[in-house]
Amino acid sequence: VKDESNRFGLPAFKILGPSWAIPKILSQRFGLPLREFARFDTIRRRLAEVGKITLACATDGNHGRAVAFMGRMLGLPTRVYVPDGTSTARIQAVESEGATVVVGGTYEEAIERAAAELEDNGLLIQDNAWEGYEEIPRLIVEGYSTMLWEIEDHFRSLRAPDPTHVVVQVGVGSLADAVVRHYRRRGLGQPPVIICVEPVKAACLLTSVRAGEVVKIGGWQNSIMAGLNCAIPSAISFPLLRRYVDCFMSVEDDRAREAMCELAAEGIVAGETGAAGLAGLLELVRGRHNLASAGWLGLDHTSRVLLFNTEGATDPASFTHIVGRSPDTIR
Ligand SMILES: Cc1ncc(COP(=O)(O)O)c(C=O)c1O
Repeated sequence: VKDESNRFGLPAFKILGPSWAIPKILSQRFGLPLREFARFDTIRRRLAEVGKITLACATDGNHGRAVAFMGRMLGLPTRVYVPDGTSTARIQAVESEGATVVVGGTYEEAIERAAAELEDNGLLIQDNAWEGYEEIPRLIVEGYSTMLWEIEDHFRSLRAPDPTHVVVQVGVGSLADAVVRHYRRRGLGQPPVIICVEPVKAACLLTSVRAGEVVKIGGWQNSIMAGLNCAIPSAISFPLLRRYVDCFMSVEDDRAREAMCELAAEGIVAGETGAAGLAGLLELVRGRHNLASAGWLGLDHTSRVLLFNTEGATDPASFTHIVGRSPDTIR
């Protein structure tokens, strides 16, 4: 399990996207080499020359906190739009970084509003793409690759064999995009089987793959796996995922609860979204209807499965309710 419950003091992997994309995009705006934007103090100095740039984004929580963190580090005002139903703990976490939070609508409506209300020199830092908005999401996918190279380095240092299977949770698919680029790159000896997991209540990738094109799913995406509550997959990631992923599946919220408890028993604090990859694996090996799929995918007791705990206890009260212990008693 690649444990991302603490990265730069934030309880999710998401900062890897904005911390790469924002300096890169600023260096382009200023027409200066990226190395001049490698440190917070030099970026702040450059920004002082042009006056305030506002950062904006929509989020289910973790991405917004990451953008807000960057805003705080760079001294930029940040506005974060979250859908109705976002838990108070997640809203407060974004506010704790000094950002203004605007609540309303679905996740997709929050994105529309973030884009519509953007100031002329503002930067929309979104972790998913649509036609005409592709550059920043591409950079965010690049940023996520850090995590995959860290895994590679770690496996090498242990002389551990590569994984046979990689299970990754999907919201809009940017994280899975980074996983696919890494494990389907040229020259890799034995590429692992890649499995994408979504909540049953927000299976937009699975639905789109079945349809053969990007589709927007209906209804209200209100899974407890809040980071995965999306209705449309990212336009740049969908073609890649459709082509290179071996299995698309969805899981009920109860599997995520079960996975959180299993991870806690191993000393790993995983929030609902963080545990979603294990929820997929458990569904394959324990789910009555999916045992055959495990066989087709070559999953057995010799498999070495890589999972990503992409978030810690981002809603501590919910974690305690589900696991029966508070997050700080785990480990
Ligand atoms: C903790 C966590 N894990 C996984 C994901 C899924 O990432 P993506 O939306 O790129 O598929 C998210 C998305 O917000 C998240 O917050």
